[in-house]
Amino acid sequence: MLLQAENLHHSFTEGETENKVLQGVCLKIIRGETTAVVGPSGCGKSTLLYLLGLLDRPKKGEIYFHGTEVAKSDDKVRTNLRNNSIGFIFQFHFLLKELTALENVSLPMRKSGLTRMDSHEKSLDILKKLGLESKSDRYANKLSGGEQQRVAIARAIANSPSLILADEPTGNLDSRNSENVFSLLQNIARDQDIGVLVVTHNPELAKNCDQIIEIQDGKNK
Ligand SMILES: Nc1ncnc2c1ncn2[C@@H]1O[C@H](COP(=O)(O)OP(=O)(O)OP(=O)(O)O)[C@@H](O)[C@H]1O
Ligand SMILES: [Mg+2]
Repeated sequence: MLLQAENLHHSFTEGETENKVLQGVCLKIIRGETTAVVGPSGCGKSTLLYLLGLLDRPKKGEIYFHGTEVAKSDDKVRTNLRNNSIGFIFQFHFLLKELTALENVSLPMRKSGLTRMDSHEKSLDILKKLGLESKSDRYANKLSGGEQQRVAIARAIANSPSLILADEPTGNLDSRNSENVFSLLQNIARDQDIGVLVVTHNPELAKNCDQIIEIQDGKNK
């Protein structure tokens, strides 16, 4: 078991009103498997990803990472885990446009202390695997949407995470590129024994995953 969430509750307070978003979500993520998170807009999918990515703390409930409870552990432990074990892919990939594809992929490795040369070598290797070798020196804003999304995937796997959290990674791609990005994520999960959690609005893509978590009224459906 890679990740287990038990009875997660989360709410946002605006003025006097408390907007309850998650009200007891449970899930289990196993290495090598891809899990889809589905549910209507506003049901709390992104909120859930933020909690699982240790970017926010649940109001109630537990998150076990490799068996250790981390929802309540201190910031240092959580930051370490986030930087070294979790890769993020967002809908609008957030590449730095003034950096090349290679530099974007290298960034997390540089942050965790790898030298420029080592990180560039490793990045080139990953870009090759994703069919982007010839694009490695291009600035991010000179790449197509699908290429940028693949660079974002390359960046997410650069630090060899054990978990990848992807929030609608194909949200702004056409159907062919969406399928490519999805099967790429599934292959990465399988080949590298990584747990992948993907939020998607596309039922066809969700159907191909090993597990589907459907959220309704703040709970698992
Ligand atoms: N930082 C915030 N402050 C206050 N309310 C928030 C905040 N973030 C999200 N919400 C509210 O929480 C609810 C869930 O939002 P969330 O972004 O998790 O939905 P979602 O399922 O990801 O939707 P979508 O499919 O549209 O991306 C929404 O009602 C939203 O308005
Ligand atoms: Mg969302």
